[in-house]
Amino acid sequence: MVSDLKQQVLIQRASSTGEMKRVLNSFHGTNIGFVPTMGYLHEGHMSLVEESLRTCDHTVVSIFVNPIQFGPNEDLDVYPYDLEGDIEKLESAGVDLLFQPHREIIYPEGFKTYVQVDEITDHLCGKSRPGLFKGVATVVLKLFNIVRPQHVFFGEKDWQQLAVIETLVRDLNLDIFVHRVPLVREPDGLAMSSRNRNLTSKERQKALSLSRSLEDAKEKISQGTTAASQLKQSIKDRITAESGMQIDYISICDPISLQEIEEVKGRTLIALAVKIGSSRLIDNCIVED
Ligand code: PAF
Repeated sequence: MVSDLKQQVLIQRASSTGEMKRVLNSFHGTNIGFVPTMGYLHEGHMSLVEESLRTCDHTVVSIFVNPIQFGPNEDLDVYPYDLEGDIEKLESAGVDLLFQPHREIIYPEGFKTYVQVDEITDHLCGKSRPGLFKGVATVVLKLFNIVRPQHVFFGEKDWQQLAVIETLVRDLNLDIFVHRVPLVREPDGLAMSSRNRNLTSKERQKALSLSRSLEDAKEKISQGTTAASQLKQSIKDRITAESGMQIDYISICDPISLQEIEEVKGRTLIALAVKIGSSRLIDNCIVED
């Protein structure tokens, strides 16, 4: 009964900072949870939304495909988009407010201020996508300033992004609690991503080698292999057994500093990025020694 009533409540929508202020004023004195997204929402995003709904009084979601985090030859122009579907999902989940800013609201004419998080951005995706995390940190700080949340929710699928946001929040004394939400997989193991939608059915099948190579590596570690070079080689062999796979990186590293390690000892992050056709997919797992 309660959930039936909830489904009838239309989500509030705002696209300017003025509209945001008006709606946020009506939330005054309550805990605001915030989930920033680039849209084309899947179960991974919805797990962030559910966590916010569970822990906060009001939940705000933003949809903004942030142009400055894409490089010149990346997939900004083909980034999937389904606003109606997204609104339907957010409405039936019971989200209070959708912020969908116009580009000029976030990047007005003459925009000159950027946020740069050092060191942890030198590894993994930061290495092959220069400018990615400067773009992410800049837009996320702007969104935090507009939404003014007490709680924010990010998925562990983008492990390095989460590390960047946590560092940003700590270094700039933002009074915000960052919630880490586990990666969500399809039933066959593929990590959920909006970019999966651009895979052909053949590519999608090949993409399973990412999660499977991570499972193999975990298995090898549990059987006593600790040399990172050996583990990386077996991940590489598993992935390149499929044709047309272009490995960007396979990293075995410290989960906090993201520095490469040579031997798996204690908590370790295995992360990878692979280009399949025109899609670049990432996946990761944590292994405990
Ligand atoms: O993870 C994403 O969808 C984006 O990087 C984010 C955090 C919304 C910033 O544009």
